[in-house]
Amino acid sequence: MTTFRLNGREVTVTTPDNAPLLWAIRDEVGLTGTKYGCGIGQCGACTVHVDGQALRSCTTPVSAVKGRSVTTIEGLDPKGAHPLQLAWIEAQAPQCGYCQSGQIMQAAALLKAKPHPTDAEIDAGMNGNLCRCMAYVRIKHAIKLASAPAAPMARKAVKA
Ligand code: FES
Ligand code: FES
Repeated sequence: MTTFRLNGREVTVTTPDNAPLLWAIRDEVGLTGTKYGCGIGQCGACTVHVDGQALRSCTTPVSAVKGRSVTTIEGLDPKGAHPLQLAWIEAQAPQCGYCQSGQIMQAAALLKAKPHPTDAEIDAGMNGNLCRCMAYVRIKHAIKLASAPAAPMARKAVKA
């Protein structure tokens, strides 16, 4: 059994220690916003935050998060109104949507480290997150919207 914090609450899962964290999140806890893509750490669909750092949950054994704090797309913002989520809607970023929660979680970690990233920093920070629909231009646009100094708060105020 592994006990950790998931989206702010303590959970104990019986997923085998060496099984992927992704299995515990999706199959045992039932949070299906985090997606399974490649299963080998190459696509980013399964990206979550562990103690604030973006991590591939498909290649992270559940035992590795014992006592740590995990955040999934469901826990990024209690109202689903994180500046990135609002910008994603404004930019109409998704196509099929499958990669998008991983993209947003990766972008959230990027903006936490670099609140106003340059184009090159966005490209570098998002490099490992693949989109089979090729929505990269809209994803980048959404990140730029969210990182604009005043716009995210204005959008958040309108939403509230
Ligand atoms: S499913 Fe984890 S990186 Fe692709
Ligand atoms: S929107 Fe379809 S895989 Fe990215």
